[in-house]
Amino acid sequence: MSKKILLVCLGNICRSPLAEGILLSKLNDTFHIDSAGTGGWHAGELPDKRSIQIAQKYGIDITQQRARKFQKEDFDIFDYIFVMDNQNYKDVINLASNETHQNKVQLILEEIFPGERVDVPDPYYGSEDGFEKVFKMLDEACDSIAKKLLNP
Ligand code: 4NP
Repeated sequence: MSKKILLVCLGNICRSPLAEGILLSKLNDTFHIDSAGTGGWHAGELPDKRSIQIAQKYGIDITQQRARKFQKEDFDIFDYIFVMDNQNYKDVINLASNETHQNKVQLILEEIFPGERVDVPDPYYGSEDGFEKVFKMLDEACDSIAKKLLNP
């Protein structure tokens, strides 16, 4: 059965759209990949211009994405829920109604820094440089996720 993976950040316009685009580029179309934000302020919007630009620089088009808010139903739809930071983790876990739901949630950088509970820094209020750094972190983490999913 095809695996479903959800990437989650706060606004669903900077980090998780990038993670969605990067992971999609590393997997085949038997996987279902989506992203969402714990907050709904940007619902319906395109990803942030700076995320679109950095993705484009590395050959990834994320302009078909539109922001949406994370919903409780996502726990039933998705097999894996990767969150960008510790606050996202708390916010998503708070919506979980059982252990099966909770066990689906993981900090994305646990993939490359196991046990360290490292955040993908929010680049929204920072410089362009922040987006490059975030792209590289996510690229490394998504490499690891894709390898595991492709060779279970
Ligand atoms: P993201 O970044 O969580 O990576 O999408 C943010 C985008 C927007 C806001 C915060 C973070 N905001 O407060 O509007």
